Amino acid sequence: MSKIILTGDRPTGKLHLGHYVGSLKRRVELQNSGEYDKIFIMIADAQALTDNADNPEKIRQNIIEVALDYLSCGLDPAKSTLFIQSQIQELTELSFYYMNLVTLSRLERNPTVKTEIKMRNFETSIPVGFLTYPISQAADITAFKATTVPVGEDQLPMIEQCREIVRRFNFIYGDTLVEPEALIPQNEVCCRLPGTDGKAKMSKSLGNCIYLSDSADEVRTKIMSMFTDPNHLKITDPGSLEGNAVFTYLDAFCRDEHFERFLPEYANLDELKGHYQRGGLGDVKVKKFLNAIVQEELEPIRARRKELEKQIPEIYDILKKGSEVARAAAADTMSEVKAAMKINYFDDAALIAEQAARFAEKSE
Ligand code: TRP
Repeated sequence: MSKIILTGDRPTGKLHLGHYVGSLKRRVELQNSGEYDKIFIMIADAQALTDNADNPEKIRQNIIEVALDYLSCGLDPAKSTLFIQSQIQELTELSFYYMNLVTLSRLERNPTVKTEIKMRNFETSIPVGFLTYPISQAADITAFKATTVPVGEDQLPMIEQCREIVRRFNFIYGDTLVEPEALIPQNEVCCRLPGTDGKAKMSKSLGNCIYLSDSADEVRTKIMSMFTDPNHLKITDPGSLEGNAVFTYLDAFCRDEHFERFLPEYANLDELKGHYQRGGLGDVKVKKFLNAIVQEELEPIRARRKELEKQIPEIYDILKKGSEVARAAAADTMSEVKAAMKINYFDDAALIAEQAARFAEKSE
């Protein structure tokens, strides 16, 4: 069986370091590993509209931002198909049929949806489209017969729900759809990079994000004002690593080779942590070290973005071509689904002939 990747992001804002360590970086590695037969990367505008129905302009403006982030991180249209969800009508068509295979209570139990409903104060009035977006996400995945879905940990309930839909579909209509596997970050801190304020997650509304498109100055300012240990007032005070965002970021980004180059007094992160916990190591020094590492990682991305920003029409062309390729793949699956569900009347010559014979017999 061929190995196929599908994944994507909602275009509700520019992508940040959380997206980068949580999935983007890995995607580029998977793309370049040569292990996959096909890779589909989707800008999930239709899903973004499920809780932004009143603000289409926001989604429209952010499609190019996400595309720029993708390309500047190294997603390569020669190796990966980049496309826009709303342009693939088969996805809405599949969603409609999958709705018959999922109960309301199952949707209401989806932990990711539950959290998101709370976050958006949707408790008393949930848009139906929002509640059912896991079904549409199952359509996204299965339309491309994806075997592998690289996502952040928060998306695991979506993949589980998709697998259930696949099993139910195949049980009722015969083997048609492929059950996907989630691929989550290997490194636990990468699953959930906290915001610069130490809060659980980077989120635009909390204003605690470092964006891939931030300038070097913006990144430095954000890192130098990051949340550390509020009780670490004097350099000589012992410091705590617990909930200390600077050290969490170091866990995500730092490798031994960074010490050789940027902080040769220490051999590795354990030594640095030990010193911080004993006391005698100031936050500023650690933050400068983190800044050097993050800048090194972001610099090539920033440089590529600057070039790509001069090629906006070409990028739309990439998305348009990608959407055509994606559409053809989804259409193939759609015909198989229609045949399995017996809604392919006009393609079914045997059906028409059999009915013609039966009615002819009756009239004799
Ligand atoms: N729900 C994902 C997010 O919020 C975006 C998404 C939509 C997606 N469809 C998908 C991810 C299919 C993986 C597979 O980021």
